[in-house]
Amino acid sequence: MSKEQWTAVDRYLTDLLVAPDAALDAALAASAAAGLPAINVTPNLGKLLFLLARMQGARNILEFGTLGGYSTIWLARALPAGGRLITLESDPKHAEVARANIARAGLSNVVDLRVGRALDLLPGVAADMRAPFDFVFIDADKPNNPEYFARSLELSRLGSLIIVDNVIRNGAVIEEDSSDPGVQAVRRMNEMLRAERRVTATALQTVGSKGYDGFAMVLVTSDPKQRSQ
Ligand SMILES: C[S@@+](CC[C@H](N)C(=O)[O-])C[C@H]1O[C@@H](n2cnc3c(N)ncnc32)[C@H](O)[C@@H]1O
Repeated sequence: MSKEQWTAVDRYLTDLLVAPDAALDAALAASAAAGLPAINVTPNLGKLLFLLARMQGARNILEFGTLGGYSTIWLARALPAGGRLITLESDPKHAEVARANIARAGLSNVVDLRVGRALDLLPGVAADMRAPFDFVFIDADKPNNPEYFARSLELSRLGSLIIVDNVIRNGAVIEEDSSDPGVQAVRRMNEMLRAERRVTATALQTVGSKGYDGFAMVLVTSDPKQRSQ
C-alpha cells in the first residue's frame, strides 16, 4: 500500500460521490494562488463533515481553524435556513482569503468569521451565542486541542457532536515519549476523552491523498452544565 494508491482511491471516490462544485473548487484555487498551505480537509472528509452536520440537524456550528474556508463552506452548506456557523482563524491573511471564498459561495450571511487566537475569541463567542453549538469541528493549532475540546464541551448541549481532526499524526499518536507537541496534545486530549463522563468517543484512522491520519468523534451524552466527577 502506498500514498499513490490511497490518492488514486481518494480520486475515484471523490469523482464518484462528491459532485463538482464551483465554489469549493474556486476556494481551493484561490487559496493556492494566495500561497495558503494545502492543509484543508480532503473532499471526502469535507463531504463527511457535511453529512455529519446534516445527520445531526445542526443549526449552530463552531469551527476552530478556517484557513481558506474550504471546510467552512462544506459545513455551512449543511445548515438549514436560519442556521449559523462561527469560524475562528488567527492568521489575517488566511481570514481574508476565506472571507472572499465564503462570499463567492454565497454564505457570507451564514458564516461569522472571527479573526484572532481561538482561545482569545472564545469569551466573545460564548457571549454572543444564541444557543449551544450542535456541532463543533476542531482543526486549528494542535497543541491547544485539549483546551479546545474542554471549551467546546462547555459550549455544547446534550447530543452535540465534536469532531477533532488530525489525531493519528502518521501513527505517531502511540509514541508516549514523542517530542512533537501536537502528538502530546492529542494524547492528553485522548486521556480527557477517556475520563470525561459527559461524552462518549471514538477515533478512526484514515488514509488518502493527505497521507495517514484520522479524526476523533465525540458525542456529548450528558448535560455539559453538570460538571464531570
Ligand atoms: C489545518 S488549518 C484549517 C483547515 C480548514 N479547517 C479546512 O479544512 O479547510 C488550521 C488553521 O488554523 C489556524 N490557526 C492556527 N493557530 C490558531 C489559533 N490559535 N487560533 C485560531 N486559528 C489558528 C491556522 O492559521 C490555519 O489556518
